[in-house]
Amino acid sequence: MPRSDDLPDGHRFIPAARLSDIPPGGLRRVAIEGRLILLASVAGGVFAVDDDCTHISGPLDRGELDGYTLTCPVHLARFDVRDGSVLRGPARDPLPTYPVRVEGDQVLVALPDSDPGAGR
Ligand code: FES
Repeated sequence: MPRSDDLPDGHRFIPAARLSDIPPGGLRRVAIEGRLILLASVAGGVFAVDDDCTHISGPLDRGELDGYTLTCPVHLARFDVRDGSVLRGPARDPLPTYPVRVEGDQVLVALPDSDPGAGR
């Protein structure tokens, strides 16, 4: 079972995808409890960010991943999938990120228990 002792308060790990369903160096969009999450596989690690560009909601799952750099397909803003930071505008705000745990072939993503984005 996933441990919860290293999570922010009020978060819990939720099964999100199979590791084998995420292409190495690639992206996979998943829906978890009403929220669209983008999983990025880089250098043997998996990172989770909102699949919603902070500029004007571009579909990041249609963007490009080059190493840790995710490029939005709409106006080419760039983000670091490790911490969501903006590497190039026009986006100004970082992407929300989520803790990820991989157990065997199972990828789990930690979301807040009372997710304000649920149901959008
Ligand atoms: S919507 Fe992503 S850069 Fe504009």
